[in-house]
Amino acid sequence: MRSFFPKKLLAWNKKKNRRAMPWKGEKDPYKIWLSEIILQQTRVEQGWNYYLKFINTFPAVQQLAHAPETKVFKLWEGLGYYSRCKNLIAAAKIIDKAYNGEFPASYEKILELPGIGPYTAAAIASFAFNLPFAVVDGNVLRVLARISGTEIPVDSAMGKAVLNKLAFELLDKKQPGLYNQAIMDFGAVVCKPKAPACIQCIMQKDCMAYELGVVEKLPVKEKKIVKKNRWLYYFIITYKARVYIRKRTAKDIWQNLHEFLLVEKNGPLNKKELLLQAPVKQLFLQKGTSVTQISRLYTHQLTHQTLHGQFIEIKVDHSPDLGVDFVGVPYRELTRYPFPKFMITYLQEKNVNLSQH
Ligand code: ADE
Repeated sequence: MRSFFPKKLLAWNKKKNRRAMPWKGEKDPYKIWLSEIILQQTRVEQGWNYYLKFINTFPAVQQLAHAPETKVFKLWEGLGYYSRCKNLIAAAKIIDKAYNGEFPASYEKILELPGIGPYTAAAIASFAFNLPFAVVDGNVLRVLARISGTEIPVDSAMGKAVLNKLAFELLDKKQPGLYNQAIMDFGAVVCKPKAPACIQCIMQKDCMAYELGVVEKLPVKEKKIVKKNRWLYYFIITYKARVYIRKRTAKDIWQNLHEFLLVEKNGPLNKKELLLQAPVKQLFLQKGTSVTQISRLYTHQLTHQTLHGQFIEIKVDHSPDLGVDFVGVPYRELTRYPFPKFMITYLQEKNVNLSQH
């Protein structure tokens, strides 16, 4: 296995791999870094255009480091996992200041940057600087677990240790960048999670999982993802054609994005209960407050959470007292602010309605 795998993989890469992606073969560490951060929790097809938008808007790290943060978040809007964007900005500032705009050329220094773990550091070090570090992501773990036939859970401490060691042993130390991209592509197009292309696979004769008939059972994972349900009720409060929004500061998946007045619950609320929620109830103590619309229930799937959301439009004829965080923004200017994906969907549907009036 030690010798056949890298050779066969690189032969497959040369002859059969037709996977094209805009960052493939890229040597600029800044662009590689951007692509890898975008792809951390995002599918290639979804990340593709974001990558192009980012390198067009910020062709070099200095431009990213000096950009207004809201502009960067706006560009990231819809990609999710916004701490990636926050770390992107922080790392760009470090590279600009501490490294004079030159991306550090050592694995250890790259690993110190915010938002960069062992996988991303290995990707940048190997693609940009041809340093011998093996990337170990979900694709690679699957390929290695199948080839070696291991039933040790890949997310256990033991599984990680065994497969990281194997990943490094198999790495072509002379062409680590080429090899790393090849194994990821191989995992994505041949050794796929479902319906892997074993029939045409060049590794078929050497694959333990194939021999034992357990390809689709591997890799084994010990942790099952338990999804949390969250109910989010957004109150869109309008006064004199202005809607009230605030920037989220809580350290969660939406930090730095904007939102309407939000009430979060562990379960669904009916219409009556909705209007009895503390910040909203107060509005109704004054005359001239009316509910103008209640949206359908939206759902949005994240890796660890299922979000349910509803938007309740309320019109007031007095300046609402929502606290200092809130600012009144004209409806058409809402698009300047970055919002969670969930709310964009709603606003997009709403815009259709608005343009019809
Ligand atoms: N996922 C993360 N990085 C990738 C890359 N360079 N190519 C393909 N998929 C990836």
